[in-house]
Amino acid sequence: MEKSVSDIDQNTILKELKKRLAFEKSYSKVLSSMCTPPLEISRKISAEYAEINLGDPGLFPETKQMELEALNSIAEILQAPMGWTGSITSGGSESNLLGCWTARNWSKKTKGIKNGTLLLPESAHASFEKSIDILNLKSKWIPLTSENKLNLELLKEELNETTVGIVGIAGATGTGACDDIKALSEIAQDSNTYLHVDAAHGGMIFPYLKDIGREAPVFDFQLEGVCSITIDTHKIMGGLIPGGSIIYRSSEFSKTIAKGITYLSDSTTKQITITGTRPGNSVIALWVLLKYYGKEFMIDRVKKSFVLTDYTAEKLRGISSISLTFDPTINIIGFTNTKLSNENLVAKLKEFGWDLSIYSNWTRMVIMPHFSIEMIDKFIKDLENVLKE
Ligand SMILES: Cc1ncc(COP(=O)(O)O)c(C=O)c1O
Repeated sequence: MEKSVSDIDQNTILKELKKRLAFEKSYSKVLSSMCTPPLEISRKISAEYAEINLGDPGLFPETKQMELEALNSIAEILQAPMGWTGSITSGGSESNLLGCWTARNWSKKTKGIKNGTLLLPESAHASFEKSIDILNLKSKWIPLTSENKLNLELLKEELNETTVGIVGIAGATGTGACDDIKALSEIAQDSNTYLHVDAAHGGMIFPYLKDIGREAPVFDFQLEGVCSITIDTHKIMGGLIPGGSIIYRSSEFSKTIAKGITYLSDSTTKQITITGTRPGNSVIALWVLLKYYGKEFMIDRVKKSFVLTDYTAEKLRGISSISLTFDPTINIIGFTNTKLSNENLVAKLKEFGWDLSIYSNWTRMVIMPHFSIEMIDKFIKDLENVLKE
């Protein structure tokens, strides 16, 4: 017989959940994810402000203002010029879809391009495959150089009057490589082509590299040809999951996708997101991260990840059956081994509780701020054992 609502005992439910999800709450053996546990304060904010819906900003004007302030901080990180626009999104996939949608609509509006082609590197994230499908775009996937960057010469061969946009990646998912965004910007400017930069992962890393004494590629709005940038807040920054953003150089671009929604509390609301109803709690938590934790917090997180990446790479180089696939440029490591197939190795390590990613020719690790030396040492020991078997 079904229980009535008054019979439901929350404590029993919470206890059951604790038991069932005990192993899902920890990132202690996750070596494959660009996500990382959010701060305690973000968790509290998440619970406290769960009912806020930024899809209806007229009902929550103060949260809307905080969203603008958070976007302003992100626009500053990306050196956006006056007149920038943008939105907080559900993450890199939504931001990339928005970037492609805008490229398509802007190219149609300003140049009359219909059924156009998007040019993007073979390293581009799967979210672009989704975007191309949803937006009914044609696509040309441009091969990479030996440094895993978009091959500029091959791109130039494909660029023509049917091109709706170029995509450059600042921090590729598989290798961490940053395309030559400066060169792409010049190509985009010379040909009056929309350039979207996917900095979902690298966007919160590259701006802090100089502060930790490392070389930093330029990928942001300092480059005049860059029209929009994806940058995630749930990756190395550690914002609530999911969370991301897109910043546009100007409303000239974003207004081509804006939709008015008259039934909302503020009937003049125009949305430039895919989602309608959107969580306010993650925006408030992000605002707190940006306002109270800010630059020093990010420098610390990036530094920690980079020091641990160097440490892990060194340990891997010390195993004779392992070769690094590329010299890590950010906190992403790829390696191959001479003993087991990529799939087998990942499956065996899973038996020890470790999670790694399978790429076409390498095993991938993403070294996030939740890692520690002890965690890496434990992993290396298990890896050596698996390779010895
Ligand atoms: C470069 C890049 N772009 C986009 C995405 C998609 O982001 P999300 O999973 O937040 O949708 C990822 C995810 O790893 C990524 O690495």
